[in-house]
Amino acid sequence: MTRLTLRRPDDWHLHLRDGDLLAGVIDDSARHFARALVMPNLVPPVRTGAEAAHYRARILAALPPWADFTPLMTLYLTEDTNPRDILCAWRAGLVTAVKLYPAGATTNSASGVRDFDRVRGALEAMAAAGVPLCVHGEVTDPAVDIFDREAVFLDRVLEPLRRTTPGLRVVLEHVTTAEGLAYVRAGGPAIAGTITAHHLAINRNAILAGGIRPHYYCLPVAKREHHRLALLAAATAAEPAFFLGTDSAPHPDADKLAPCGCAGCYTAPVALAVLAELFAAAGALARLERFASLNGAAFYGLAPNLATVTLERGPPLPPPAPRPAGTARVTVFDPGFPLHWRVV
Ligand code: NCD
Ligand code: ZN
Repeated sequence: MTRLTLRRPDDWHLHLRDGDLLAGVIDDSARHFARALVMPNLVPPVRTGAEAAHYRARILAALPPWADFTPLMTLYLTEDTNPRDILCAWRAGLVTAVKLYPAGATTNSASGVRDFDRVRGALEAMAAAGVPLCVHGEVTDPAVDIFDREAVFLDRVLEPLRRTTPGLRVVLEHVTTAEGLAYVRAGGPAIAGTITAHHLAINRNAILAGGIRPHYYCLPVAKREHHRLALLAAATAAEPAFFLGTDSAPHPDADKLAPCGCAGCYTAPVALAVLAELFAAAGALARLERFASLNGAAFYGLAPNLATVTLERGPPLPPPAPRPAGTARVTVFDPGFPLHWRVV
């Protein structure tokens, strides 16, 4: 197969940032995706319905005139979040989900949750109303090895949280382990998982073997090859509980290449091409539409996009140039294998 037409995909986990960075990166998502669930981890975070409305307006203002792209907003759950504000923003159609960051788990998560008893009211209100909780699934306990933080989170945090909040709809974001996949599979229709393109493409060797490569460092950090293969199997089988959330997370190169470089891979420009390459290699191109365009919409109760996108296979593409953003530049993720698929 050298040509593939599918419904326009949605990105169920995207960092669009703000200001110059937003202006520099938004075209890359708008070009390929119809909708994206926009993460709220700005500084300060997007905590209230009013803040989400303002952020949404800034995103819409940054969109190019040709774009047909809908940002779906999220609220950042803090210990001070007012459950009524969540419900109000949800009923107004202003937010699509609430995001839980354990405090300190990742980039800009300082305002996240430390004491889960303090968000019990918010979680119960969300469960009653059907508002999905998107979860950054890593423990922050420094005693836990960074490669184990997702698996430990499932037992220590997620399972107790779901047991005490029956009916809560949960998305385990950017699943990176076989344990995470198994947890979602066993959880029934109220839980789903997003998978990124980069966790399907690389394992932890890409970060550390033969030299340290900061552009492959993200959170959750990439794991061993057998985990990557398990993720690939779930995605290419288009299991209904799993769908694409790129976690495309642009950072200026200066911040990535510092002595303490920050976490995040900027994948938006190449995510579809990377997926096409991987699905083709697995003989699963016909299932890419379910993974990238249908399963997520179904979980979120939205109609699939009507417009389509066509991918075509050709000679290998040159690696994409870094994206300028104000005075900064952002390196685009390089999967480490040639990309042949382009959107036509
Ligand atoms: C994200 C970011 O940069 O905002 N970084 C990352 O490595 N994925 C935060 C996140 O989703 O963990
Ligand atoms: Zn993210």
